[in-house]
Amino acid sequence: MSITVHTWPTPEEVGVAAADTIADLIEENPHAVIGLATGSTPIETYRLLAERHRHGLSFSQITTFNLDEYVGLSPEHPKSYHCYMDDHLFSQIDVDRSRTHIPKGDVEDVNLEGERFERKITNAEGVDIWLLGIGPNGHIAFNEPGCARDSRTRVVQLANETITANSRFFDSPDEVPRFAITAGIDTIMAADRILLLACGSNKAKAVAEAVTGPTSPDCPASFLQEHLDCTFLLDDSAASLLEP
Ligand code: PGA
Repeated sequence: MSITVHTWPTPEEVGVAAADTIADLIEENPHAVIGLATGSTPIETYRLLAERHRHGLSFSQITTFNLDEYVGLSPEHPKSYHCYMDDHLFSQIDVDRSRTHIPKGDVEDVNLEGERFERKITNAEGVDIWLLGIGPNGHIAFNEPGCARDSRTRVVQLANETITANSRFFDSPDEVPRFAITAGIDTIMAADRILLLACGSNKAKAVAEAVTGPTSPDCPASFLQEHLDCTFLLDDSAASLLEP
């Protein structure tokens, strides 16, 4: 078992490769169950998928699951991942909203919400492919360094590095929520396929540790080495610390 790595010169080409992979899957299986991510990296992929929809690709039968949401933000909050998904993808395609699932961060009992989210994945008979990003500290979703390999959807505290990295989406670092509800490592590892996208030199160290380092909670993405079908799509900068 090892991670398959593909590299391209530019982030745009990474976006094309990811969008092609997802579009091919939907063409093959219109009922595909697709795991989605937020952050800046998949935006190009979503733009291209929306374009594919305008050229005839239907998303009407797919089911989606998102990795995470900030605790305390309502789905209507402009910085919530619910809003992000609406803006970048769901409002641009013919997806059936009742089959899009994002953990809710504004419920009374977030632990119960985690269990509910896991049950929905089970009811959908699992995820066919999960699209991921990676944090500069090696996190996947909000599974920060130190997380457990057998973790499932739960509430976590964000690492300081993540608060700093994500403050670019907020008016100030103080506004970044300190907690999130996130799919666990085990939730992600249960997907049939995993496609991780990374672009930029600030990801190079985390990518190198994930691909060639020891499997360790110090770099949560390194757990992906144990997956049977995991591919990293990288631009040259993100791949710069990997051996050619
Ligand atoms: P990014 O975030 O795509 O905005 O770089 C990725 C992540 O933190 O997982």
